[in-house]
Amino acid sequence: PRDLFMPERANSAGVDLDDRDVLAEVMGEVRGDISHPFALSLSKGQTEPQAKSLHPVQGEASTSSARTDLDIGNIAQSALNRAHAAFPAWAATPLDARAACLDRLADLMEARRADLMAIACQEAFKTIPDALAEVREAVDFCRYYAAQARTGLAPVTLPGPTGERNVLRMEGRGVWLCIAPWNFPLAIFIGQVAAALVAGNAVVAKPAPQTPRIAAAAVALAHEAGVPQDALILATGGADMGKALTADPRIAGVAFTGSVAAAKAIARALLEGPEQRPIVPLIAETGGINCMIVDSTALPEQVVRDIVISGFQSAGQRCSALRLLLVQEEVLDRTLHMLKGAMDALVIGDPTDSRTDIGPVIDKAAYDRLMAHRKAHQAQIVHSVAVPKKGLFVPPTLIRLDDPAQLDREIFGPIVHVATWRAGTLDTVIAAINAKGFGLTMGLHSRIARTAATVEGLAAVGNLYVNRSMIGAVVGSQPFGGEGLSGTGPKAGGPHYLHRFCAERVTSTDT
Ligand code: SER
Repeated sequence: PRDLFMPERANSAGVDLDDRDVLAEVMGEVRGDISHPFALSLSKGQTEPQAKSLHPVQGEASTSSARTDLDIGNIAQSALNRAHAAFPAWAATPLDARAACLDRLADLMEARRADLMAIACQEAFKTIPDALAEVREAVDFCRYYAAQARTGLAPVTLPGPTGERNVLRMEGRGVWLCIAPWNFPLAIFIGQVAAALVAGNAVVAKPAPQTPRIAAAAVALAHEAGVPQDALILATGGADMGKALTADPRIAGVAFTGSVAAAKAIARALLEGPEQRPIVPLIAETGGINCMIVDSTALPEQVVRDIVISGFQSAGQRCSALRLLLVQEEVLDRTLHMLKGAMDALVIGDPTDSRTDIGPVIDKAAYDRLMAHRKAHQAQIVHSVAVPKKGLFVPPTLIRLDDPAQLDREIFGPIVHVATWRAGTLDTVIAAINAKGFGLTMGLHSRIARTAATVEGLAAVGNLYVNRSMIGAVVGSQPFGGEGLSGTGPKAGGPHYLHRFCAERVTSTDT
């Protein structure tokens, strides 16, 4: 296999990666290596893109899907055996040394930033700004969890009856299974892994089948940063690999980000097996039917900017993304008029071109699902943007709903549904949103402080964004995660995350 980091490339240290022109130059260097996997070819006469494998890594992944159940079982067993054997020494490694590994990993990811970005563009079709944000978030997770661990996981002596000494220790639980999604194939992947490791656990990490290469690069850097080889093991594969790993009673906990259905399947799998199988924690982060409420006092330009960012950036492939826009009826026409203009200005195309705002969706299956949803709502499409004919480009789309209850599942792509609400019915609007059962993000645009307080009091969501976009939670400042169908908590990038990865042990000694 070719080197994951394309070492022949010039070192990009010192390059200002915020500058789109400079980014274009940096990315231009690697584009020769990128076989434009998002560009599906159209043969003569075809009107629909054909799924054609131009994806070097998916090529490998599809060989792996040819693995038999026995192969997968053996790979899972071997990974777990090794991680299990590595756990005691890693758990006994001083907390500060484990945290230092995370800091070094952060440094290494920063040093290899352009290379990691290139893989993210190639493998997950990230645009350049999204790829940059991806690497930064991964770095932030490492530094944040390292700092949190040093203070939050150190043993504490607790007051007690005279003559007793009580010490609370936070220790590793064993082997954690981390299952990451393709939409943040570096940030979420490394966030889960870093948290589990610094808490003193060994880790078997399963990336999404679409994005094994950036995960392999991250694991290689973690090893370079000092994490012992067997304390962090990469297990690539699809649902079959996940199933083989979760079936093993030695798994001490699972950190999962992905679909609700998969989260429930994991929860069930963790309860199956021998009577003696321990009950273990599951940290699940799934999706949402995320709503933005706009009232008549909101600033129109700001509203439109935030709808475009929240609904269409990253091709809508964020669990935080806007799915249902609820506009007070008096301002619907004005909002839609301005929104259509803003959507028309979006640049859709090659993600490795620094001018691109929106790239293709992740794979043919996602493309087909999204296009089928559009087709089913053809008569309700109020606006749609032209996209390149070749490739997995889903047109950014607005679908008008008469009744917001019609949207009862997450549509994971650049499609925003629009409905209206009447002044004086905010309580009912929020109750209807809560009744959908998800609770991840919500946006509110209003200039009335009392409205914001009402929404804050009523909305059962993990992250409420007022007068801003609904995506891009910042590690340490905006701990991220939902409730209900959206997940279990604790929030990633928040002060309570690491504790869930630990066994809490108290020793009380009569002095
Ligand atoms: N953490 C991401 C965001 O806030 C979503 O997964 O957009």
